[in-house]
Amino acid sequence: MGLIKSRKVKYSLLFLVILWVALIPVVAQTIAIETNATSLIFHVAFNGELRQSYFGEKIQPSAQKHISISSFAAYPTYGGYEVHEPALRVVHADGNLTTELVYVSHEQQKVKDGVTSTQIVLKDKFYPLTVTLHYKTYREEEIIEQWMEITHQENSDITLHNFFSSHLTFQQSAYWLTSFSGNWANEMNMEEVKLEDGMKVLESKLGVRSNQFGHAAFLLSLNGKSAEEHGTVVGGTLAWPGSWKLSFETDAQHNLKILAGINPYASQYILKPKEKFTTPTFLYTLSTKGKGEVTRRFHAWARKHNGIYKPERPRYTLLNNWEATYFDFNEPILKQIIGDASEMGIDLFLLDDGWFANKYPRDHDRAGLGDWAVNKKKLPNGIGELIKESKKKNVKFGIWIEPEMVNPKSELYETHPDWVISAAHREIDVSRNQLILDLSNPKVQDHVFGVVDHLLTQNPEIAYLKWDCNRYITNAGSSYLPAKQQSHLWVKYVEGLLDVLKRVRAKYPEVYLMLCSGGGGRIDYATLPYFDEYWISDNTDALDRIFIQWGATHFFPPIGLASHVSVVPNHNTQRTTPLKFRFDVAMAAKLGMDLQPKDMPAEEKLLSKGAIQEYGTFKHIIQDGELYRLLSPYESNRVALMYALPNQQEALVFSYLKKKEIYGNNQVLLLHGLDPKRNYRIKEVNKFGKDHSSIQHLTDKAFTGEFLMTYGIRFTMYNEYDSVVLQLVTE
Ligand code: DGJ
Repeated sequence: MGLIKSRKVKYSLLFLVILWVALIPVVAQTIAIETNATSLIFHVAFNGELRQSYFGEKIQPSAQKHISISSFAAYPTYGGYEVHEPALRVVHADGNLTTELVYVSHEQQKVKDGVTSTQIVLKDKFYPLTVTLHYKTYREEEIIEQWMEITHQENSDITLHNFFSSHLTFQQSAYWLTSFSGNWANEMNMEEVKLEDGMKVLESKLGVRSNQFGHAAFLLSLNGKSAEEHGTVVGGTLAWPGSWKLSFETDAQHNLKILAGINPYASQYILKPKEKFTTPTFLYTLSTKGKGEVTRRFHAWARKHNGIYKPERPRYTLLNNWEATYFDFNEPILKQIIGDASEMGIDLFLLDDGWFANKYPRDHDRAGLGDWAVNKKKLPNGIGELIKESKKKNVKFGIWIEPEMVNPKSELYETHPDWVISAAHREIDVSRNQLILDLSNPKVQDHVFGVVDHLLTQNPEIAYLKWDCNRYITNAGSSYLPAKQQSHLWVKYVEGLLDVLKRVRAKYPEVYLMLCSGGGGRIDYATLPYFDEYWISDNTDALDRIFIQWGATHFFPPIGLASHVSVVPNHNTQRTTPLKFRFDVAMAAKLGMDLQPKDMPAEEKLLSKGAIQEYGTFKHIIQDGELYRLLSPYESNRVALMYALPNQQEALVFSYLKKKEIYGNNQVLLLHGLDPKRNYRIKEVNKFGKDHSSIQHLTDKAFTGEFLMTYGIRFTMYNEYDSVVLQLVTE
């Protein structure tokens, strides 16, 4: 009995010791990814797994020790306990389907003032497979940039199935998701939905022109619908002009997992030993001041960190002949347009599609694409003559190209039928009568670069190129890629494209480039850094444009958004709106024109001239200003937005009325971004020939910033398509 008792005591003691050891507080390794206002905290769990323990408003380093280790894998893989969509799914060389990553090391470096980079190295527990998570934080702009690199030393190839750039987990009670979708001439429609349990997917499988039906961007509002200037909103966008996927999976505990990256659909990637696979970057920010702040951070980041090409250089007003002539023009017609553009004070004439090809003349979209020799019938004296004419008229010259594409009816296709994307043994599948050149092939890359290079060396005075891209991939197949790597096309095409753009920029740093893709089919932060501006839609109807611009500028900088005044009735919608309204909408971004000036009454030409001149006096406020959305076109009949310079010296306010209101609309415009203490003098701009202001009681009066931000600006608007633009200058 005594023996049993003493054994019992011994075992109890042993148990207590074990319990005590188990309860010793072990401080897990913490990795903090931080901006001025945000913390993303990772822990290395006791089993070596990297966990995302926190993502939200900044937690000071001294308090970070109180954050407990979560159960959320920072970068979940297929394998182990994971049952949700994994960020990484690999089939190893021996056929094993699972991957279990553990933490190895991490490093942080200052890249430059305000920019820090972090690398976290993870390895599979068994296989020689390394995954490095990369983070770059822009402290002041509050943007986090994230991507992943994967490499291995297994004894033969592995296959990557899922290879997302980022995985983020949220633990909140409700999630509201805003997406940006549409189609040709109807881009960037915003829709906000409440996420229910299960999976919501936003994606593109198009490969090229991959934003035709939607953009790889979202706003996620936590615990309620999003608001402009308050509430927690996460904004994210994938920098990738190929197929993309954003998935939002809400699990049974109501945790939300967001994956962002290249669309894994039909894109498995075979990775050789020692080869490195790098994902595109995913850019995101967490704002506690609503979606307006998300927008301003992306714009500030793009301005400061070259999210768009040379963000500081002035943009040109231009007149494009697309809606003026389509394919039907000749030298005298273009000379007349150049002359009229010059008279109206336009900076640059842009010659659109239709200027090239002889054997199969580009008189319509069914022939000639790919044959980049000047069409001798339309332009017997070449582009040189038009450049000379432009110079004479003091206008710069720009030209359209679509170098990634070819019509089957072309000399290029006759010579290189093997250069197009198409599946073997299948009929070629044309869209807009054209095919896509296979940019996974280095020879095709050289060719595409050569098209640009030839044009610019032959015509060094070309100041501007519009780079178009009018179709997406169907019947995917490459006669360049080996049989086993056909699914690499989706990635290799994009890499080829970005490589060509890099070469173009290295040789031609001064040429202005416009990113166009059958309207706004390609706008993303991997491509934009090579381009000065982007064409968001072929729909130039001013009313529709209000919505399209409203959506696009949530993420992309307004000064890059080319917006053109065109004729009425509008070619797309048949809608007739006043010229002033058309100007006032286009002026809220980068102003241009798309019409035949010869057909304008003299008075309209004169008014346009005045408007263009006036735009020059305030376009710096759009270029450098911070955008505040005041009244949404989705919520009210009156729409208003404003730009305020970061130094708070000047601001611009735009107000539009979509429909007539018999009793008048007097919604208040509560301004933002002003210095409460300074006085701002208000002046109506673009009065369009009127010698009096439509808001007499405000004109040339000064008010404090505080007053304008609390009482606001009040004036009544009555008529359909009424518009008012106000400039505010500090005294
Ligand atoms: C599509 C573009 O969006 C238009 O502006 C115009 O350039 C046409 N292509 C020309 O084919």
